Amino acid sequence: MNSNPDKPAAMPGHAGGENERRILKRDPVPHLFKPLQIRGVTAKNRIMLSPMCQYSGENGEPNLWHIQNLCARAAGGVGIVCTEAIHTEPRGRITKHCLGLWNDQQRDKLAPVAEFIESQGAVPAIQIGHAGRKGSISRPWEGSKALTADQGAWELISASAIPFADSFTTPRQMDEDDIATALDSFAQATRRAKEAGFKFLELHAAHGYLAHVFLSPLSNSRNDNWGGDLAGRARFLLETVRVMRGEWPDDLPLCVRLSCTEWVEGGLTLEDTLEVCRMLEETGAVDLVTCSSGGNATGQQIPIHPGYQVPFAERVRRETGLKTVAVGMIHGPEQADEIIANGRADIVALGRTLLADPIWPRRAAKYLRAEDVGWPVQYERSDIFG
Ligand SMILES: Cc1cc2nc3c(=O)[nH]c(=O)nc-3n(C[C@H](O)[C@H](O)[C@H](O)COP(=O)(O)O)c2cc1C
Repeated sequence: MNSNPDKPAAMPGHAGGENERRILKRDPVPHLFKPLQIRGVTAKNRIMLSPMCQYSGENGEPNLWHIQNLCARAAGGVGIVCTEAIHTEPRGRITKHCLGLWNDQQRDKLAPVAEFIESQGAVPAIQIGHAGRKGSISRPWEGSKALTADQGAWELISASAIPFADSFTTPRQMDEDDIATALDSFAQATRRAKEAGFKFLELHAAHGYLAHVFLSPLSNSRNDNWGGDLAGRARFLLETVRVMRGEWPDDLPLCVRLSCTEWVEGGLTLEDTLEVCRMLEETGAVDLVTCSSGGNATGQQIPIHPGYQVPFAERVRRETGLKTVAVGMIHGPEQADEIIANGRADIVALGRTLLADPIWPRRAAKYLRAEDVGWPVQYERSDIFG
């Protein structure tokens, strides 16, 4: 410690005495590569593959595309490898080619992926969701357009009969039976996720999908017990979390992905989100929140820049007892390490960066001079990292 408060600590490169050299001693394990324990699960590092739909399945089942995509990131050194959004019922899909977990065959096709991820020392994670009013569209490379009846369109359900956009199908407002069915579908999908061997569960309650539309005043105009003030609008989310935790073992982490702001006048704000996080914390069911944003309003104005959502993770972490996952334009090892080192989040989730580079964690380890992060024995003769 610097015992003289008037004397600043030496800067890197500044000639200092023995004490200062000791202050500057580099930790052989950079913050990004420090293990993290949540309940009974330990992630070997703080890097998570962010869930990313591949729109490439048939009948809600994964195929070789999904297997190579997830397994390559596990072999590449990612600490927590998360599937894309896996939907709880057929009407909860985004596109016809999204994945599901409403039957045992889908579960059995996911199980080897979870097993392989774990064999690489990574935590197999799964995101479970329901698209609500944003479903029944074509794939991004087909224009993301509302499907016609000829193309196999299905009925959409949502908190209220308000479409996401003029070009989207108007959903039917969910009645009590629809809500009970949807909640049960979350419970059953969670049970199957556990049976498939996943060890980390993320509920998708962001980006304008079902749990999010209930939360938002822009998409929930109900005046029954499932709407009204923030507590009423949060009820569907809290009930979903409750039924999921009922099926999810006590020793495994449960995470909720939220859109922390909707970036539009009259929409959810960070202050609302902090309140929702306190409600989630009170359930005792939730361990972490992934702090994303937007996706529920066509008029959103997002000031995109590197790390633009990190301040949300920082506030939630500081003002609640929940751990946080920071996500969004986190590209560089130094940027990622800084987020963890300064206590702004517990985990960083990388999306497009890991799409482009499945061995990003290896490169980050080299850049940050992390020692002994491991490398599959099959790849040991690849000495590009020296
Ligand atoms: C192709 C693609 C698919 C995505 N699918 C999902 C998804 O299934 N679930 C989800 O919560 N977010 C999804 N996202 C958002 C990412 O998880 C992530 O939050 C976003 O891309 C920002 O992070 P990045 O800048 O590191 O890519 C998707 C993003 C992309 C690019």
